Amino acid sequence: MLQDRQNQQATNHNCDSNGCAGYKGGAENLRVAVFGLGYVGLPLALSFALRGCRVVGVDTNAELVAELNAGITYHQEQYQGEGIQSILRRQLEAGRFTATTIAAQAMESCDNIIITVGLPVHDGEPFAGYLEECCRDIARGLKKGDLVVVRGTLVPGMTRRLVLPLLEESGLKAGRDFALAYSSERIAEGRAFEEFVTMPGLVSGLTENCRARARRLLAVVTEAPLHPASSFEVVETAKVVENISRDVNIALVNELARFTKELGVDVFEVIALANTHQRVKLLQPGPGVGGYCLPNALYYLDAAARRLGVPLELMHTARRVNEEMPRHVVNLVLRRLSVPPSQAKIAVLGLAMKDYSGDDRLSPALTICQLLLDAGLQVAAFDPAVQTQYNFKVDNMRAALSGAHGVVALARQHGIDFTDWDLFLSCLDRTGTPFIIDTKQIYRGVSVPSGIVVESI
Ligand SMILES: NC(=O)c1ccc[n+]([C@@H]2O[C@H](COP(=O)([O-])OP(=O)(O)OC[C@H]3O[C@@H](n4cnc5c(N)ncnc54)[C@H](O)[C@@H]3O)[C@@H](O)[C@H]2O)c1
Repeated sequence: MLQDRQNQQATNHNCDSNGCAGYKGGAENLRVAVFGLGYVGLPLALSFALRGCRVVGVDTNAELVAELNAGITYHQEQYQGEGIQSILRRQLEAGRFTATTIAAQAMESCDNIIITVGLPVHDGEPFAGYLEECCRDIARGLKKGDLVVVRGTLVPGMTRRLVLPLLEESGLKAGRDFALAYSSERIAEGRAFEEFVTMPGLVSGLTENCRARARRLLAVVTEAPLHPASSFEVVETAKVVENISRDVNIALVNELARFTKELGVDVFEVIALANTHQRVKLLQPGPGVGGYCLPNALYYLDAAARRLGVPLELMHTARRVNEEMPRHVVNLVLRRLSVPPSQAKIAVLGLAMKDYSGDDRLSPALTICQLLLDAGLQVAAFDPAVQTQYNFKVDNMRAALSGAHGVVALARQHGIDFTDWDLFLSCLDRTGTPFIIDTKQIYRGVSVPSGIVVESI
């Protein structure tokens, strides 16, 4: 049966822009299992379903699986004007997507397996337990002829040293009985569906055949070039350095922001003008760097670098600069207070790790709230997109602003009106001068009513 399916796939090949035979026009014959249904896995699974594939999503989180099968997701993604919830419901109804906690169910029916399970970092150490469990689940159902593509971000060397031997516990040999590939994931949350199509990819395989099969599978969704790489380690390392390069660049402009503040010039103007140089591309300063990807990347590289005895001084320094930004923001608040901290209330607007996202993983906003609380202030944070509950979180702008002595603007969100001046003026405590610490250029060029002071980071 598997052989029949592969023969059928072989007859569906045609040439595509990636220079390899693709499945375009024959994608409905593909059976794809996606392990991990988080920020990457869910939109990726739905992207294959949108192209006609039969997709089984596997996640160990039973509550998440039940919600997805009921057509519920809190993700903020959309594709060609349609929200992810509507896409999910249509694909469920069409029978092209289903979610399960039972790996064996997916392994029975699918021969293309994509792993999007990641490595959380605890105290600077990547934790591979979820990935190991996932590989063991896959190994138990692995069949001759299957293709396994790892897409999560890994410690360089991990596909070969960890994933491969775990999958071979199946008794099957990688490269001979099943194909193994690593292709890094480069999408940004909020633009996932579009970037799965338009973002160039990097693909490596244990053998040339493994790599070619992975490129064919990924080309079902990706129209951009899928660059072939010579080894797993090249792609694994390229991925972490892509993230670290952004972390280092942001550390540079965060440090610059502290300098320009004392110099008395606008850091955003400096950056905009510096970027008119054709070979300069500075990113924007902010309250720190959050999310799953950028802050963790250094620790993935560091785990391998320590084993190899290579110091990563610049990268560690950059991480430290970004980790200090929440403290800097809190110091700006404390400097503006006209009442003792124990009598002050601060409204925090935006808790997500970036604008228009519901993701608050490793968000600097959470550190800022905690530092303000530790300093004795009352904190009321509002973010309509973030689902996580915190005891400092409130349900609306009015509750956040009422009686607040100052505001910290941390992330743009639909549902946060940063210029609802009637609300600001009626709610803020005006015994001193209420202030807004703007960490995101939200108030640049905005006319602010007298009686409110805006300070940029
Ligand atoms: N979020 C992004 O924007 C982004 C971008 C590029 C790359 N990445 C990388 O992609 C990977 C996934 O990131 P994410 O943001 O989707 O993470 P996530 O935490 O949102 O999703 C991971 C999912 O895997 C599930 N899981 C854990 N163990 C499992 C197992 N044994 N079997 C099946 N499912 C299991 C979890 O329950 C969770 O739902 C990470 O390596 C990350 O670094 C993420």
